[in-house]
Amino acid sequence: MAFSYVICNNGGGGGIVVKILLLVFLFELIEGASTPAVEVLGNISKVEDAVYFHIYYGQTFRVIKNAIDANSYLLIQSDSRMAGRTKYCTSRIKSFLIPLSNYSVDTQFFPVSFFELLGSLQSMKGMTSDSVASQCVIKLYEAGEIQVIDKSDPQQFSQFGAHFISDIDQPQACNFASFVPFSEDTPLQRAEWIKYLGIFANLEDRANWVYNAVKANYICLSNASSSRTSFRPNVAWMEYSNGIWLFTKETYKLKYVEDAGGENIDKSINKITYNVSDPDELEAFHAILCTVEVIIDETYTSDPAAYNLSNFLQNVKVEDHSCFGFLSNNSLWRYDKRIQNSTALDWYNGAVSQPQLVLADLIEALFPTGNYTTTYFRNIAKNEGVIAIGPEMCDRNVSLAMEPTILPCA
Ligand SMILES: *[C@@H]1O[C@H](CO)[C@@H](O)[C@H](O)[C@H]1NC(C)=O
Ligand SMILES: *[C@@H]1O[C@H](CO)[C@@H](O)[C@H](O)[C@H]1NC(C)=O
Ligand SMILES: *[C@@H]1O[C@H](CO)[C@@H](O)[C@H](O)[C@H]1NC(C)=O
Ligand SMILES: *[C@@H]1O[C@H](CO)[C@@H](O)[C@H](O)[C@H]1NC(C)=O
Ligand SMILES: *[C@@H]1O[C@H](CO)[C@@H](O)[C@H](O)[C@H]1NC(C)=O
Ligand SMILES: *[C@@H]1O[C@H](CO)[C@@H](O)[C@H](O)[C@H]1NC(C)=O
Ligand SMILES: *[C@@H]1O[C@H](CO)[C@@H](O)[C@H](O)[C@H]1NC(C)=O
Ligand SMILES: *[C@@H]1O[C@H](CO)[C@@H](O)[C@H](O)[C@H]1NC(C)=O
Ligand SMILES: *[C@@H]1O[C@H](CO)[C@@H](O)[C@H](O)[C@H]1NC(C)=O
Repeated sequence: MAFSYVICNNGGGGGIVVKILLLVFLFELIEGASTPAVEVLGNISKVEDAVYFHIYYGQTFRVIKNAIDANSYLLIQSDSRMAGRTKYCTSRIKSFLIPLSNYSVDTQFFPVSFFELLGSLQSMKGMTSDSVASQCVIKLYEAGEIQVIDKSDPQQFSQFGAHFISDIDQPQACNFASFVPFSEDTPLQRAEWIKYLGIFANLEDRANWVYNAVKANYICLSNASSSRTSFRPNVAWMEYSNGIWLFTKETYKLKYVEDAGGENIDKSINKITYNVSDPDELEAFHAILCTVEVIIDETYTSDPAAYNLSNFLQNVKVEDHSCFGFLSNNSLWRYDKRIQNSTALDWYNGAVSQPQLVLADLIEALFPTGNYTTTYFRNIAKNEGVIAIGPEMCDRNVSLAMEPTILPCA
C-alpha cells in the first residue's frame, strides 16, 4: 500500500518521496517495536488506542496516515534541508512544514479544545464562523486575534500553514488537513487524536502527557464505578425526529454507559425505531420506557434553551407515565448543557478531548450523589437549564495550555 503514492506523485523530487515511503514501509514492517529505526530529533508520540491514524517518524519528518481520508500527511521540520526542496499535494499525500506558525479551522463540528489542551491556540488565526463552543476562542475572536473567513472563498485559506477540517466531504486545497476523532468507536480512542494535532506543532510531549492523564483518570473512574456490583441501571440514548423515536447504536455512547457501570437498553430490544403514530409500535415503545431507569434525550432542537420536560413528554405521546422510573427518579438528561449562540454544543468540542468529564457526568446521572456538578449533561426532569458560553468566561491566559480537568478518584 505504501508504494501506491509514488504513482500519484507527478512532480520532481521523486527520489526523496521514494525514500520516505520506503521508511514508512519499513516502519510498518516493524510496527510494535518500541523505538523508531532512525534517530529522531525531538519527542515522539505513539498511538496506543486509536484505530484510524498511524504515525511514523523519520529524522526530520513525520508521516501521519489517516485511514478515514486515506491520506498520508508528510510533516517536514521547517528548519531541515528537506523543507525547502519538498512539497507534495496529490490525492493521497500532502506535505506541511512544522511546527505550523499559524492555522485556520472549519468550525463545523470541529473540537477546538484539542488545540487548547496542547497550548497552540495562539497560532489559530482563522475560522469559518463565530459559532464555536469555546469561551477562549470567542475571546480571541472578539480581540481580533482570530478572523472569520468566508468559507465560500477557499482561496482565503491559502494564507495559513494548514486549514483543519472535520467534514471531509468538501473540496480540499493543498493545505487542508482532516481531523476526524469522531470516527473512532470508544471515548478514549477519540481523545487520543490529540497526538495527531500535537505533531503539527512539535508538541508530542504535551500531547502524550495530556492523553496519559486523561486516560488514567478515565480508567480510574470507570474502575471505581463498575466495582459497585449491586445495581446496574438501564440506560437509553434516544432521539425523536419526524414522528419516530430512535435508540442509538453509536458504539462510543454504549461504551460510556458500560464504563459508568450501567446497562445498555439496546441489549434487550430487537428494534431500534418506533413510530409513535402506529398504535402497536407505541405500545411496544411504552413497554420499553417502563424498563428504563436513565434516559439521555438526544432530540435535536434549534433552541436548546427552550427545550424542557414538556417537549420530551409531548414527543413520547404516551399518556400514562406511571411506570416511568426515569421520571419518578428524576433522571432524564440532555447533553446540551453548554452551548454557544444556540448552535454550537460543547458536547462536540470539549467532551471529545476530555472523555473523563463525560464519564463523571454519567456516573452522577446513574448513581446520584448530589454533590457533583455535571459539565455537559443537564437533567430536564429537574428543569436544569443551559449555560451560554461567552468570552467573559475565559479566565485563563490563552498563551498557555489549558490543563485537563482531573477528577478526584480513589
Ligand atoms: C522532549 O520532552 C522533554 C520532556 O518534556 C523535554 O525536556 C525536551 O526538551 C523535549 N525535546 C524536544 C526536542 O522537544
Ligand atoms: C502564516 O505563517 C506564514 C509563515 O509560515 C506567513 O508567511 C503568513 O503570513 C502567516 N499568515 C498569517 C495570516 O498569519
Ligand atoms: C482497573 O481495573 C483493572 C482490572 O480490574 C486493573 O487491572 C487496573 O489496574 C485498574 N486500573 C486503575 C487505573 O485503577
Ligand atoms: C408512522 O405511522 C403512521 C400511521 O401508521 C404513518 O402514517 C406514517 O407514515 C408513519 N411514519 C413513518 C415515518 O413511517
Ligand atoms: C417548558 O417550557 C414551556 C415554554 O416556556 C412552558 O410553558 C412549560 O411549562 C415548561 N415545562 C416545564 C415542565 O417546565
Ligand atoms: C431509582 O434509583 C435507585 C438508585 O438510585 C434505584 O434503586 C431504584 O430502583 C430507582 N427506581 C426506579 C423506579 O427506577
Ligand atoms: C448568533 O450568531 C449570529 C450570527 O453571528 C448573530 O446574528 C446572533 O445574534 C447570535 N445569536 C446569539 C443568541 O448570540
Ligand atoms: C459529597 O462530598 C463530600 C465532601 O466533598 C464527601 O465527603 C461525601 O462523601 C460526598 N457524598 C457522596 C454521597 O459522595
Ligand atoms: C501569559 O503567558 C505568557 C507566556 O508565559 C506571558 O508572557 C504573559 O505575560 C502572560 N500574560 C498574563 C496576562 O499573565
